[in-house]
Amino acid sequence: ALVNSTEMFKKAYEGGYAVGAFNVNNMEIIQGIVSAAQEENAPLILQVSAGARKYASPIYLKKLVEAAIEETGLDIVLHLDHGEDFEICKACIDDGFSSVMIDGSKYPLDENIALTKRVVEYAHDRGVTVEAELGKLAGVEDDVKVSAKDATYTDPDEAVEFVERTGVDSLAIAIGTSHGAYKFKGDPKLDFARLETISAKLPNYPLVLHGASSVPQEFVELCNKYGAQIPGAQGVPEEMLRQAAHSGVCKINIDTDLRLALTASIRKTFTENPGEFDPRKYLGPGRDAIKKMVQHKIKNVLGCSGKR
Ligand code: G3H
Ligand code: 13P
Ligand code: NA
Ligand code: ZN
Repeated sequence: ALVNSTEMFKKAYEGGYAVGAFNVNNMEIIQGIVSAAQEENAPLILQVSAGARKYASPIYLKKLVEAAIEETGLDIVLHLDHGEDFEICKACIDDGFSSVMIDGSKYPLDENIALTKRVVEYAHDRGVTVEAELGKLAGVEDDVKVSAKDATYTDPDEAVEFVERTGVDSLAIAIGTSHGAYKFKGDPKLDFARLETISAKLPNYPLVLHGASSVPQEFVELCNKYGAQIPGAQGVPEEMLRQAAHSGVCKINIDTDLRLALTASIRKTFTENPGEFDPRKYLGPGRDAIKKMVQHKIKNVLGCSGKR
């Protein structure tokens, strides 16, 4: 069934695992992810960004996710990723999403709280759960200096105040991850001490980790071997994600790894079979590559296999 995140996060918190939240943009991506979750009997969050919504047109992704639920009988959360204002959150709630993110992280604390609260009120009246964000993830180009770094990471006391004042269902925190394929210049490093502190101050409260792709070197190398130019791509090591999944982190966001798996596969097909121009012949293997990658995450990284 289409479900909100309440029970899923409660079980994840108690079970010491995380649910994968995968970004979807088309049918093959959805099918690859869903068949992995089905085989692993895993809980699943499919999330749609504003860009995905625009690319596919609002209704298509909703209908594809409905088809996946109908075919598999899985419990799936359909979630808006990084909603930037009240209006897009409202539109998705009205369209039948079961969960939304309001990302007010760029605003000062009081504004972020006011905006989040407004979305929470609208959503909760309709049985929809809400994720918010506090603290800023480093941008791909951001050259965050060590001295300025602390200011962008989530402040634990502010997190407590934020959750109390908004009533939001889950909170995305900044502890050193970032979006995209270039997460670290040197050695990967996350502020686990901060995560522990936040978690200790918010017992039984589900936290969310954005920018959590591991950027498997296997895919980067395949892409580059078959003509891509993505040198130096680096993600969050799987061991760190396992550690996060064992903590209060109940939702781990993955988009970049889907893009890399799909692109590596398509590039390989194009190089090896230059005469091929039937989309099913390259999107099909791409879908298989996504399934394999997601199944690995569910089993070996998130810990949510069999936790449906
Ligand atoms: O957080 C960003 C996600 O990777 C979605 O990316 O806005 O390009 O769809 P997008
Ligand atoms: P990645 O770029 O690490 O996959 O992060 C995705 C994300 O946080 C979507 O909200
Ligand atoms: Na967890
Ligand atoms: Zn994100």
